[in-house]
Amino acid sequence: AYIDPPTPNHLMTSSDFKIIAIDGGAASGKSSTSKKVAARLNYLHVDTGAHYRALTHIALEAKIAPQDETALSHFLTTLTFETAIEGHEAQMILNGHLPDQSDIRSEKVNATVSHFAALPSVRNAIKAYQRNQATVARNAQFAGLIMDGRDIGTIIFPDADLKIFLFADEATRAARRSNEGQNDTIAERDKLDSARKTAPLTPAKDAFQIDNSKLTLEQVVDQVIALN
Ligand code: CDP
Ligand code: CDP
Repeated sequence: AYIDPPTPNHLMTSSDFKIIAIDGGAASGKSSTSKKVAARLNYLHVDTGAHYRALTHIALEAKIAPQDETALSHFLTTLTFETAIEGHEAQMILNGHLPDQSDIRSEKVNATVSHFAALPSVRNAIKAYQRNQATVARNAQFAGLIMDGRDIGTIIFPDADLKIFLFADEATRAARRSNEGQNDTIAERDKLDSARKTAPLTPAKDAFQIDNSKLTLEQVVDQVIALN
């Protein structure tokens, strides 16, 4: 595991280090595509959905609801963020702990995460950490960074070298999620994520839009790599 070094606030630029931003709705294939692209290109993969999920999980543990503005803003100031790297995967260490996957993908978190993620205070609490993942990737000698989420191409890395927006039709996405044995309100989350004022789910103007409803994972990965 690798822990973040002290970090500059600005992004260092090097001609061969690249950033790929992948955005899209729930179960559109972002994370599985990103993982495979990262392994093929020797990039670091960061799943920003896991950041919002981990934060939601510990807020719920602390009995803080998204409506509790005062308690929430105090809670946000107490959080610490670091990074652990395993293979090509970065994971956020929150308050000194690696979040448990079953905790952050629970039904309760699925149902609440979009309410927390809609709040500007929550987004601001992790924005610098997310941007800094480019430095983390460089320092760990990766050839680039691939980050997936909802606002990566629009807000986090508006200057990313390549932006991808993934689509899949609703029936395909629901089938994919239930194949994973998950009970998830994906349509509801997409609605909340698209309608919010801060960092809504929307393709960046310069994003390549790929409908992967009828594509295999390998076909999507090949397309992304060909565009890079
Ligand atoms: O389950 P799925 O992979 O579709 O979602 P996720 O990527 O784990 O993200 C969970 C939730 O976090 C989303 O529904 C959004 O509400 C929020 N999110 C966000 O607001 N911005 C991001 N960059 C990533 C996730
Ligand atoms: O990260 P996101 O929620 O956007 O989606 P994912 O977790 O990468 O993908 C959801 C499910 O769809 C996974 O089980 C993938 O294996 C599957 N998938 C697929 O069957 N074909 C694709 N082209 C992409 C994803």
